[in-house]
Amino acid sequence: MTLPAPSPSTAALVTGASSGIGAAIARELATRGHRVVLVARSEDKLREVADQVVAAGGTADVLPTDLADRAARAELLDRVADLGVTVDVLVNNAGFSTTGPVADADVERELDQVEVDVASVVDLTTRWLPGATQRGRGALLNVASTIAFQPFPGQAGYGAAKAHVLSYTQALAAETKGTGVTVTALCPGPVDTGFVAAAGFTEEEAHGSVPRAMWVSAPAVARAGIDGLAKGRTVVVPGAPNRIGAMLAPLVPRSALLPLIARGHPALRRGRPTR
Ligand SMILES: NC(=O)c1ccc[n+]([C@@H]2O[C@H](COP(=O)([O-])OP(=O)(O)OC[C@H]3O[C@@H](n4cnc5c(N)ncnc54)[C@H](OP(=O)(O)O)[C@@H]3O)[C@@H](O)[C@H]2O)c1
Repeated sequence: MTLPAPSPSTAALVTGASSGIGAAIARELATRGHRVVLVARSEDKLREVADQVVAAGGTADVLPTDLADRAARAELLDRVADLGVTVDVLVNNAGFSTTGPVADADVERELDQVEVDVASVVDLTTRWLPGATQRGRGALLNVASTIAFQPFPGQAGYGAAKAHVLSYTQALAAETKGTGVTVTALCPGPVDTGFVAAAGFTEEEAHGSVPRAMWVSAPAVARAGIDGLAKGRTVVVPGAPNRIGAMLAPLVPRSALLPLIARGHPALRRGRPTR
């Protein structure tokens, strides 16, 4: 099992390709010869990434889509087929995090998080996988997070969403063994992208609460993800400190770990009365 070779009739579909890790993954795949189909809501940003890909000698199409919208998701693969290509590489990368105590959360935003971070991954994967297994070729990269390795008070819904993505992807990797389809969960630690601001963290909070050694750049994360996919790795955690953390987190009793995370989480510290 490996990354399918690029061909004129195939493409890599990357969700959340308008910025950060998704844009970096699209650039990485284009550098390796794949035509890329870029999906996110912001058409202008998608076009900027597509222009960069084309300027570097690649081929890119943009399909602006709101992945929280079930009907829009349902027609996405048909829109790719209308471009005259089959999706050989599917990258479910789009995602965001709500932060703060669930007791203060906005219900619509929490449900949108489930739609984009969980339902969209399940939806696109379930629509794509039958064709890929019939063709006997394909690669699926689902972007989870190191947050998937333990519950995360302060980002409860996001942690649970990424735990879903990790568990789902590991199970799919076992199901697809021997079919010619390769499946990888990419679990980045902290990456300096639009994610930090979208989650409502200040720069100071983000960098003050996570050691510098754990931060990995978006291009390095993208390269590790695509290398892992090409090598048939089921789980990829970029950066040695993040790999150590991901190994240790499940071993620490949750009764000890979760209060520590709750005490240190900036979005929980904000509203906490001082005594
Ligand atoms: N940055 C980190 O520290 C970090 C760590 C671990 C895992 N991750 C994961 O990595 C992935 C990429 O995040 P990032 O760091 O690159 O953040 P980012 O720069 O904020 O990118 C998020 C991407 O998701 C897209 N997106 C959000 N909501 C969408 C929707 N409703 N429909 C379609 N696209 C949507 C955004 O595009 P539009 O706004 O244009 O729609 C954007 O392209 C996410 O799954 C995130 O959970 C990030």
